[in-house]
Amino acid sequence: MSDTHFGFQTVDESQKAQRVRGVFDSVASKYDVMNDLMSMGLHRAWKAYAVAVANLREGQSVLDIAGGTGDLARAFAKQVGPKGTVVHTDINEAMLRQGRDRLLDEGLVLPTLICDGEKLPFQANTFDLVSVAFGLRNMTRKEAALAEMNRVLKPGGRLLVLEFSKVAQPLARAYDWYSFNVLPRIGRLVAGDAESYRYLAESIRMHPSQAELKSMMKSAGFGHVDVHNLSAGVVALHVGIKC
Ligand SMILES: C[S@@+](CC[C@H](N)C(=O)[O-])C[C@H]1O[C@@H](n2cnc3c(N)ncnc32)[C@H](O)[C@@H]1O
Repeated sequence: MSDTHFGFQTVDESQKAQRVRGVFDSVASKYDVMNDLMSMGLHRAWKAYAVAVANLREGQSVLDIAGGTGDLARAFAKQVGPKGTVVHTDINEAMLRQGRDRLLDEGLVLPTLICDGEKLPFQANTFDLVSVAFGLRNMTRKEAALAEMNRVLKPGGRLLVLEFSKVAQPLARAYDWYSFNVLPRIGRLVAGDAESYRYLAESIRMHPSQAELKSMMKSAGFGHVDVHNLSAGVVALHVGIKC
């Protein structure tokens, strides 16, 4: 067995998914309010940017991986309309339930299924767009996941990876202070869980940089990859084209 990272800890690859599951089981019911608090609402702008870049047409088909509480799936469903398809998926049942209930409350019924981004249960060449927002960081075998995302895309289809990334150097100290001092405290006060938010801060530091992720996407078969830095690199949107 090989080792991998769970935040700053080194763990056996076979344990990571279970540890990640523990994090999202613990935070699922407070996930949305925590997102607004921690990012001061910015996650909405990052997602809106991704949706604008997606610029889907009516009738297109989309797979949202690690879709959690459904922010992207909901926005994509509006773009593709009733003739289109948005499949809302996540490996974690608690997160997916939160998302499904929210979407149902808003009158949206989407195909919703538990699935692992590293082993997608779809045929090759199925989707016009695949998205993964703040999910790739949590996966154990990121290269395998990217190859799977490539496989299920139609030729010419696009992968959108929205993820925390490497912040511009002048902001690094302030961002570290916020991440390691403030985030776990908000986590403890609001979600009763400081550890999951410490994991969040650590996992961001262990995630590949903008350039590394671009190179991983090219190795996974994306012929062209664009990188859009958002909020000085706190987040990056990578757009890969299967060609
Ligand atoms: C930070 S949340 C992001 C949720 C949503 N996409 C958003 O942007 O608000 C990360 C999600 O990744 C999911 N996840 C972690 N590992 C996964 C895997 N191997 N396959 C699919 N989803 C995974 C978690 O269950 C969790 O719901």
